[in-house]
Amino acid sequence: MEAGVDLYEYQARDVFEKHGVPVLRGITAVTPEEAGAAAAELGTPVVVVKAQVKTGGRGKAGGVKIAKSPAEAQQKAAEILGLDIKGHIVKTVMVAEGADIAEEYYFSLLLDRANRSYLAMCSKEGGMEIEQLAVERPEALARIPVDPTVGIDQAKADEIVAAAGFEGDDAVEIARVLQLLGNVYESEDATLVEVNPLVKTGDGKIVALDGKVSLDANADFRHPDHADLADKSAEDPLEAAAKAKGLNYVKLDGSVGIIGNGAGLVMSTLDVVAYAGEEFEGSPKPANFLDIGGGASAEVMANGLEIIIGDEQVKSVFVNVFGGITACDAVANGIVQAFELLAAKDEHVDVPLVVRLDGNNADLGRQILTEAKLPGLEQVDTMDGAARRAAELAAG
Ligand SMILES: Nc1ncnc2c1ncn2[C@@H]1O[C@H](COP(=O)(O)OP(=O)(O)O)[C@@H](O)[C@H]1O
Ligand SMILES: [Mg+2]
Repeated sequence: MEAGVDLYEYQARDVFEKHGVPVLRGITAVTPEEAGAAAAELGTPVVVVKAQVKTGGRGKAGGVKIAKSPAEAQQKAAEILGLDIKGHIVKTVMVAEGADIAEEYYFSLLLDRANRSYLAMCSKEGGMEIEQLAVERPEALARIPVDPTVGIDQAKADEIVAAAGFEGDDAVEIARVLQLLGNVYESEDATLVEVNPLVKTGDGKIVALDGKVSLDANADFRHPDHADLADKSAEDPLEAAAKAKGLNYVKLDGSVGIIGNGAGLVMSTLDVVAYAGEEFEGSPKPANFLDIGGGASAEVMANGLEIIIGDEQVKSVFVNVFGGITACDAVANGIVQAFELLAAKDEHVDVPLVVRLDGNNADLGRQILTEAKLPGLEQVDTMDGAARRAAELAAG
């Protein structure tokens, strides 16, 4: 399973617009000058300069500011660009038309895995963070299950809107918008569509003023256009390189590189290494998750090693393999060939490697590695012992 892609607000705005959800015009900018030009292009008396970072609470953090002229928009953008909002540095702003807000509402539709259903949440009290509303005034937040095979049809939209307490023309228009947001969820294969705030303007229009959309990466094959939405610049370069090689790799913060076969084994290897590391100076921790899967060929092993030794934080590598369908002798040969493949590319494994082979043909595998006398490679027969040794080497 792959992690989803969270969209920036400006991307969510574009997706909303594509599906007919009422939004305001917005133009992105990466410099104050561009922001000034964007405000001039919008030409509205009021614009709002909004930090584009993938975290909520931008308003409170000073990342959303009103401007009444292009010059002021430029100045506000200068204040917002470079801001650190909850660890996210602002590199882009969106200059949006300023709305005349009469009321702020809340709406979200999300995947409710536990109940194998969708869940719609709606409230007349939008604007503030929803977690806070859910805790402080749970009765103000309508929670309505949505049948995934039906989605938000007219009846469901009416039910949600009534549960949230809307009446009259507002109820009719909001129900219309919720159906459009349901279409966004359905046709884009989203796992979350959240609008906070959904506003009513002074002249009674309903507009999505902020948008949060998470896409389900498992459905990417149905959406070639979604690849453009993924944030290449924010992706870790090692993870990007691993992805390009088809490896199941996640970069972590520690110094012990991990290679294993099978996601479950790799997960428990992370735990065992973290635990073993506590004994040593600086408490070395796992540097990554890397599952080379069942049929670990020499090439896959070489690719995996290459990514891991490319991580400058890595001080030792723990290869933890339980031989099954691919027996340990094949894995051992894979390791030997991986060293050769890397040497041929003039890339050498310059950190110590601790290998634990167990399971099918373990003895043969160990013998192959012993005879190969690979520089810096040690074998330890137990998982705990090998984890301990790898942590010790990373500490030393
Ligand atoms: N285009 C806009 N026009 C007027 N006010 C806006 C506009 N966009 C946002 N705001 C105001 O700023 C607040 C915070 O903006 P929002 O986009 O919800 O960011 P966040 O949820 O990250 O704080 C909104 O609740 C709204 O009051
Ligand atoms: Mg918001």
